[in-house]
Amino acid sequence: MTGGAGFIGSNYLHWMVSRHPEIRFVNLDLLTYAGNLANIESISAEANYEFVQGDITDSALVEMLFQTHGFDTVVHFAAESHVDRSIEDPLSFVRTNVIGTTILLETARTFWKASDSMSLCRFHHVSTDEVYGSLGTTGQFLESTPYAPRSPYAASKASSDHFVRAFAETYGLPILITNCSNNFGPYQFPEKLIPLTIVNAVSEQAIPVYGRGDNIRDWLFVLDHCEALELVLQRGTPGQTYLIGGGNEWSNLDLVNKILDRVDESLSRPEGTGRALVSFVDDRPGHDFRYSVNTDRIQAELDWRPSHSLDEALELTVTWYLENQDWIECVKDESYMRYYDRMYGDRISNKDDG
Ligand code: NAD
Ligand code: DAU
Repeated sequence: MTGGAGFIGSNYLHWMVSRHPEIRFVNLDLLTYAGNLANIESISAEANYEFVQGDITDSALVEMLFQTHGFDTVVHFAAESHVDRSIEDPLSFVRTNVIGTTILLETARTFWKASDSMSLCRFHHVSTDEVYGSLGTTGQFLESTPYAPRSPYAASKASSDHFVRAFAETYGLPILITNCSNNFGPYQFPEKLIPLTIVNAVSEQAIPVYGRGDNIRDWLFVLDHCEALELVLQRGTPGQTYLIGGGNEWSNLDLVNKILDRVDESLSRPEGTGRALVSFVDDRPGHDFRYSVNTDRIQAELDWRPSHSLDEALELTVTWYLENQDWIECVKDESYMRYYDRMYGDRISNKDDG
């Protein structure tokens, strides 16, 4: 798998590694600002798990890993994932999301075509509902909705999806694509709306709400997402796309207020303390108005639906952030970036020795 030190990838490892002792997991992650080894500290010593720091755009490394491990499955999470950063620096999104994905595809194709069991292999590409563009007040995205990405991030993910599908059509690569809505839960980097709201509320800092806060997102608890990803990998039809959503559409302002009330309650602060922190700021350029995904296919084919209500999942998430202040502090002071040196100092010196 790629990107397992990030938010969804680390939750996926927590979900999968102990459940599947028969699978050997190799986690290839560059550890960009979004990768945090503390997210996966508790599984780092598991016998069926190994971490490799490296870049998915490094084709020699990816090839060496295929050669060494003989992978029959790739689950691909690694990406630049933040829309606002893509507006500042679109090229790094092209590099990782488009070129990196294509390098993984090309390496998998080369290795798998040489084996007799290509049909048993799987390339599972984790993607986003943002590839379909922006909805008005009604309607839902379907798997068949034409792509219409509107941000550099969404365009790079759309492009990566096209490459994945092209490798299936052209070379017969057994692929799976999942396009999910906004995830939230433990270990999410506090640049995204929900963790940013909780973290700023705790330290009583302003909560920036873009525009009037009336944009709508569908919120999916990350562990419900991981359960869906496991089912898709185990029983999904090769070549197929599956939409995954939480069925929880909220305007940003309503959601932020709901979280702030919960934080006030948990910290026994006077009602309204959190809401007073809301600060309306300039809107995101090209801000998609609404996302909503139709999950009929995954429900019918794989009998998946989210297990957590929004309230339960928010409660778990707020509690996790309140109980993990040290994780937040390490992210804030950036000391989490030095975690690799502490955990894998030997490997770094081995690397230096060539
Ligand atoms: P994240 O930003 O939290 O983590 C990304 C991970 O990828 C990090 O660990 C980072 O170090 C790693 N990475 C980045 N560039 C790399 C490279 N060149 N080589 C190797 N590793 C690299 O992302 P996330 O929110 O966990 O998202 C995971 C995937 O799910 C992404 O593909 C994203 O597009 C998709 N997705 C996310 C959401 C969401 O709400 N977070 C929703 C839909 C789809
Ligand atoms: O829909 C899936 C996508 O969801 C994923 O593909 C992306 O990787 C993920 O980042 C997320 O994209 P969004 O842009 O929807 O997420 P973000 O948390 O950045 O913003 C959620 C909404 O909140 C969006 O309408 C913008 C708004 N927002 C965001 C931030 C960071 C604010 O109002 N203020 C903020 O400070």
